[in-house]
Amino acid sequence: MNKIELIKTAKALVANDKGILAMDESTPTIKKRFDQYKISQTEESRRSYRELIITTPKLSNYISGVILFDETIRQNKKDGTSFVKVITDAGIIPGIKVDKGAKAMAGHPGEKITEGLDGLRDRLSEYAQMGARFAKWRAVITIGNGIPSIGCIEANAHALARYAALCQEAGLVPIVEPEIFMNGNHSLEDCFSVTEEVLRTVFQNLYNQDVMLEGMLLKPNMVLPGTTCNIQETIDEVADATIECLRHAVPAAVPGIVFLSGGQSSELASSRLNAMNKRFKGQLPWELSFSYGRAIQQPALKIWKGEESNIQKAQQSLLLRSKLNRDARRGEYNVSME
Ligand code: 13P
Repeated sequence: MNKIELIKTAKALVANDKGILAMDESTPTIKKRFDQYKISQTEESRRSYRELIITTPKLSNYISGVILFDETIRQNKKDGTSFVKVITDAGIIPGIKVDKGAKAMAGHPGEKITEGLDGLRDRLSEYAQMGARFAKWRAVITIGNGIPSIGCIEANAHALARYAALCQEAGLVPIVEPEIFMNGNHSLEDCFSVTEEVLRTVFQNLYNQDVMLEGMLLKPNMVLPGTTCNIQETIDEVADATIECLRHAVPAAVPGIVFLSGGQSSELASSRLNAMNKRFKGQLPWELSFSYGRAIQQPALKIWKGEESNIQKAQQSLLLRSKLNRDARRGEYNVSME
């Protein structure tokens, strides 16, 4: 493990108010996204869409890194240039999703455990050779009747920590992503207490596995009321609750927190990130950034619809959402900029 390189990469991913673009949807997930706009699902349509994203002019003004899927990291532009070269030449850091998805957890109805540790050392070394410099692993936690269970939280936290240790051994910065789903009628307080417990467990496991906190990033959910909860707190209330929770549980040695969007609208994801950066400017030990998938891509996908003639407009939309989130990192975003 080259500690200095890991720290440099982790810092670079959150430097200059830029953020990460998650474009690592697995084949079944991107199918769901494409189906919304009746875009045909072929290897070529997925390739064209990802080419559209990474060839967006000036993307690197706002985006520090992109997270790819296994199929995507092996693909090329139509002219034969590898995607990794296109990304690297643009000054963006390539990353890779390395988990194998969340599967039903034995003995725990309604809960999931993320798989993918077996053989991970060899896969990481292949990805590093291909040019990836960071990785992502996502665990998912559902709030419901009697869940999450301690068994589910412990198992997922343990897997995240073993993944993170293997990443650092391979010279890749691990993005540690424990996502508490926002679907459900639970309250913001419920989300707060589950998020705090999960994060504390995750950091205890990272400590047990000797993961270097300075060479990793945390990708958490924001502390939100469930989507069907009667009480929906304001943007500022969400910002305050999220920061309070993170302060309880995330060590100051972690260089950056990069939120997932988790199904929030693009505007809300930007507004809430903005409120946190504005209200807590200069008071936090970590950079507060984004690693959004849907909240950046959704409007562009809607414009593209699989048509070559829409590429330029879709790229403009992608660039705008990236810029607005950069502005949110500065606490300078305003919905009137939409
Ligand atoms: P969303 O921002 O769409 O939640 O995606 C981020 C991500 O990478 C989920 O694993």
